Amino acid sequence: MSRDAADARIDAGRLWQDLMAMAEIGATPGGGCGRIALTESDRQARDLFVSWATDAGLTVRVDGIGNIFARRAGSDPEAPPVLAGSHLDTQPLGGRFDGVYGVLAALEVLRALDDHGVETRAPLDAVVWTDEEGCRFAAGMVASGVFAGKLKLNDALRLADPDGVTIADALRNIGYAGTAPVGGHPVAAYFEAHIEQGPVLEAEGKTIGVVLGAQSRRTCRVSVAGEEGHAGTLPMERRKDALVGAARMVVALNGLAFTYEPRPVITVGDLRVRPNSRNTVPGGCVFLIDARHPEDAMLDRIEAAIRRACEEIAAASGLGIAIEGLSRSDASRFDDRCVATVRRAAERLGLPHRDIHSGAGHDACNLALAAPTGMIFVPCEKGISHNETENAKPDDLAAGANVLLQAMAEWAG
Ligand code: GLV
Ligand code: MN
Ligand code: MN
Repeated sequence: MSRDAADARIDAGRLWQDLMAMAEIGATPGGGCGRIALTESDRQARDLFVSWATDAGLTVRVDGIGNIFARRAGSDPEAPPVLAGSHLDTQPLGGRFDGVYGVLAALEVLRALDDHGVETRAPLDAVVWTDEEGCRFAAGMVASGVFAGKLKLNDALRLADPDGVTIADALRNIGYAGTAPVGGHPVAAYFEAHIEQGPVLEAEGKTIGVVLGAQSRRTCRVSVAGEEGHAGTLPMERRKDALVGAARMVVALNGLAFTYEPRPVITVGDLRVRPNSRNTVPGGCVFLIDARHPEDAMLDRIEAAIRRACEEIAAASGLGIAIEGLSRSDASRFDDRCVATVRRAAERLGLPHRDIHSGAGHDACNLALAAPTGMIFVPCEKGISHNETENAKPDDLAAGANVLLQAMAEWAG
């Protein structure tokens, strides 16, 4: 007979052990993780997840964009599944928790329900979304976007990294070009556990962030065209130095952010110089802009100002310029019922909590377009993330996973 999920708890030691084992894949000298999407280290992390899922008796499926679904059957196989997950890819110098926590917390929930003999009506899936970070194929949150119907599968598969390797090639190279259809079926609900990546919960001594939604984001690629020349012979006044132009643009965009209230965040974190040689005046420069603001309409205006600023600098410097929009993620508002579920679970477990908005983007923002969605934040040390020193407390991670268990069980019946 099925036992009551309200009494079930995850195994905190097993969750921590799994997180630390996963952190060894792509470990960086500074104590973090560099596991770029669809590289050899991503393959190893996926293989380890699949082996754990298989050992736990879950049924594993991989879809056409490499998303992995590890299913625990429900008593009603026709019932739409409850999904929970996040991503295994990281930033080049990322931490041990961003993304991977949400994946392993979901896996741990499924194992814990087995350990406690809890049966659910709906099936439960622990999910790994492909390429959340977007540091290789530039866009980010690509595969959850296809799943949610926001992006076309073929367009996503054609996205290429700076070496011209497409997502389709990279999936084949690591053996994760799956055959299951991408999305297109009803989902009862989606929950994602994640470290906060900001300082609020730690500062206020709260264990659980009940996430209400996430801010708006636009990304674009700027290609600046100048002219190569000899560093020793081309006089300064005759140069068309693409890097100097790009540098002026980067400084201008940083300044632009300070002219709006509430203030957006504008970042240029990826800049490539052609031919990138000490003694050739740079003939080309390509950089990526990441701009975010809580309101869509305001961010549209800011994006227009960003484009204008770059174009004016290019014109004044005699440089060519092309600006291409890469991705757009409108502000998300999570489902009121899912938000209430997370809040109620935190209360029942006696965990200090507060409502919170996400500054970071998450696959949950895409899932919210297709299914009732909620997120659970836990504190991270000093709010530091996208950094090798990213850290979180085992007890907080366990608390978040217990909230996830209660939320999934409630929606699965
Ligand atoms: C995801 O890591 C983001 O850029 O918000
Ligand atoms: Mn993340
Ligand atoms: Mn991230």
